Amino acid sequence: MGKRDLDTAFFGQPKGLSTLFFTEMWERFSYYGMRAILLFYMYYAVTKGGLGMDQTTAASIMSIYGSLVYLSTLVGGWLSDRVWGSRKTVFYGGVLIMLGHIVLALPAGVSALYASIALIVVGTGLLKPNVSSMVGGLYSVEDRRRDAGFSIFVFGINIGSFLAPLLVPWAAQGFGFNVFGTEWNFHAGFSLAAVGMFLGLVQYALGGRKYLSTDSLTPNDPIDKGDLLNIIKWVVIGIVAIAIALAAMAGVGQLNVNNVITLLTILAIALPIYYFVMMLRSPKVTKIERSRVKAYIPLFFAAAIFWGIEESGSVVLALFAEQRTVLHVGSWHFAAANFQSLNPLFIMILTPVFVWLWEHWKKQPSAPGKFAAGLVFAGLSYMWMALPGMLFGTSGRVSPLWLVGSWFLVEIAEMLISPIGLSITTKLAPNAFRSQMMSMWFMADATGQAVNAQIVKFYSSGTEIQYFLAVGVVSVIFGIIMFALVKKINVLMEGIH
Ligand code: GLN
Ligand code: ALA
Repeated sequence: MGKRDLDTAFFGQPKGLSTLFFTEMWERFSYYGMRAILLFYMYYAVTKGGLGMDQTTAASIMSIYGSLVYLSTLVGGWLSDRVWGSRKTVFYGGVLIMLGHIVLALPAGVSALYASIALIVVGTGLLKPNVSSMVGGLYSVEDRRRDAGFSIFVFGINIGSFLAPLLVPWAAQGFGFNVFGTEWNFHAGFSLAAVGMFLGLVQYALGGRKYLSTDSLTPNDPIDKGDLLNIIKWVVIGIVAIAIALAAMAGVGQLNVNNVITLLTILAIALPIYYFVMMLRSPKVTKIERSRVKAYIPLFFAAAIFWGIEESGSVVLALFAEQRTVLHVGSWHFAAANFQSLNPLFIMILTPVFVWLWEHWKKQPSAPGKFAAGLVFAGLSYMWMALPGMLFGTSGRVSPLWLVGSWFLVEIAEMLISPIGLSITTKLAPNAFRSQMMSMWFMADATGQAVNAQIVKFYSSGTEIQYFLAVGVVSVIFGIIMFALVKKINVLMEGIH
């Protein structure tokens, strides 16, 4: 056993896990805390402390923002592998994220909103994939604590994601003291998100120096001069192409938020298609690997539908919480934003149940079977939300238990898809495309949210029944199709389970 195996200072795990645990806990705290109030900040009237945007545009921005955050992990993974190494990349990402929240903490209107989105998209892209891959780097190949280490890490994600939608909206309401003169001061909430990221960065810088290996300070596959020129060429081409597209839109008087969102949606759908074609045609991919990439296509598709529904919790369900839900139980009052804590809460409750289930269920379904069941549960979580409107009409307010039930169902789906998907992605990855395949996993989320950015425009209280039914039924139908394909996909996976 090497020296690293002897480090058991953090719940039997290496001390470096504690550093990464708290870094990601605070980063997720800042992200989900900000997201919990951002939607309302955008569409609330100026007199209520908001930006007074149109609600449909606000919902669409929420989705495309979420999409870009995961698309940018592609760039973050690449910069870490080839330029900075993971340790520095994570730090730079954290600094940009903190700046993004600080910008929103200032009362500077719509331009601050877009600046903040840009900073947090790039910052999260730098931080998120690399902090996770550093967790893997804490263990030697034969260290059997790796899986447990990842579970503890994911628990940190959920603690941060759970606390923030309780604390950040509370800060935005002056912690219950009437200090702002209005009900909401969203900037105070965004300040708390900034403080969270700041705390994460401080402990990362201090702990990292002591507990993270010096390997993480250098890139795995440093870039050489020849590559560099090629890359600069492509970056320039990319920037010029975007500039031309924007200029063309401006030229015909079509440069507006909605059209930019549509352009980004197309990008988030085209990118995974490009990646699949590239991997399938690459000479670096063996015949068996190619078959596994093919098996990954339906899994990717299912994951995109699932994440589309799961991520709409901070958009569509948030609107339902605000407009259609009774926001008190007896004398206990809460904010619509607080509902965002239900997702991570159910993850923390359900994870031990599913860990037990996978350990004890002898004839459990294979990964594609679990994905199929996940799609059905995700679809049911939406169809369930059509019921209150059908039973009581769509103009009044209904019990918060409707939303609780919906989040419970979608989190069963998350248990069937998220951890399973993460592990099957690493197993199906062709050798030459290990990290790109990991990015594909995040891209499924990005694609799902990009589609949301378009369809969410059809959501309102008036259309909620049709909306929830249509999206829910589509997910269930794809779940059923997936069940029918399980055998075929298993064959394509070539021995992977
Ligand atoms: N909700 C989890 C997180 O925020 C996972 C998201 C994902 O894998 N797309 O880390
Ligand atoms: N659903 C978010 C994640 O999986 C909180 O952790």
